[in-house]
Amino acid sequence: MKHISLTGIKPTGTLHIGNYFGAIKPALELAKAYDARYFIADYHALNAVKDPEALRANIREVAAGWLAAGLDPEQVIFYRQSSIPETFELTTQLMAFTAKGLMNRAHAYKAAVQENLEKNDDSDAGINMGLFTYPVLMAADIVLFDSDVVPVGKDQVQHIEMAQDIARAVNANYKAQVLKVPQAAVVENVAVVPGLDGRKMSKSYNNTIPLFAPEKTLRRLVMRIVTNSQAVEEPKEPETSQIYLLYRLFASAEEQSALAARYRAGGMGWGEAKEELFRVVNRELSPMRGRFEALIADPAGLDKILARGAEKARPIAAATVRRFRKAAGID
Ligand code: TRP
Repeated sequence: MKHISLTGIKPTGTLHIGNYFGAIKPALELAKAYDARYFIADYHALNAVKDPEALRANIREVAAGWLAAGLDPEQVIFYRQSSIPETFELTTQLMAFTAKGLMNRAHAYKAAVQENLEKNDDSDAGINMGLFTYPVLMAADIVLFDSDVVPVGKDQVQHIEMAQDIARAVNANYKAQVLKVPQAAVVENVAVVPGLDGRKMSKSYNNTIPLFAPEKTLRRLVMRIVTNSQAVEEPKEPETSQIYLLYRLFASAEEQSALAARYRAGGMGWGEAKEELFRVVNRELSPMRGRFEALIADPAGLDKILARGAEKARPIAAATVRRFRKAAGID
């Protein structure tokens, strides 16, 4: 039997090429060897997104994005968290085994408290219970599906460790393997994707290239990448150039060495390097963009794909909740 890989995708904004190389591609790669269960964490997003139109649009965008990038819903169980009511029953069950002190130590919560203190605000200002108990809901997402591995970025490792703690507390209390203890699969060797300003590409730096930007916008953004003031004739070092580092993600090995050679020879300006970058980025993204636009234009079709995923997911989830109830004496 294949091992189970599960991850949650928080629908909080437009996907960019940092997400593509940092999360989407590695997770789709993992899905080839594992029994994969990937879902849209819409109730996690609710903690922050209170505008229904925005949330609805984000959910569809992120679902269409993963499908357009190659997620095959026949191979991966792909669903919305909110379609699995068992998630919320298991969350309540896990609450009884989660130390409040454990939640006090969560990075995201601590950062929010710290930010309040720095502003001389009340330490709890703007912090809802959804944020405070975020790791419990996430633990439920994970153990509900008997997950072996959870592909996540480094920022989520603490949450996986909390899921382990909580699952172990349940198993220790009932002296049985009620819940499977998951492992984090940290997406380690992915390249850091540089943003338009040279820092890591991130929504919070506002330096992203959206994955499905129209061709014209894509071109405009590539042309906006910050460069130094080296003249056209000067030889240039590929490894320290954002343009080249981005190029590497999209170009074949031959293309990479050809462009590196041109950099080192001198005579190629940044404008020309950007044209070359745009060409390879657009070559990879334009078929995806076409699929994305078709998916977004058919919300009913999209909903159907996710509903079918939920149908496959629910019996698995129900079995876990039943196991817990039986162990706990609530049967
Ligand atoms: N917390 C994750 C994030 O911010 C999203 C998420 C929710 C998740 N539930 C999960 C990830 C379960 C892995 C497993 O990106």
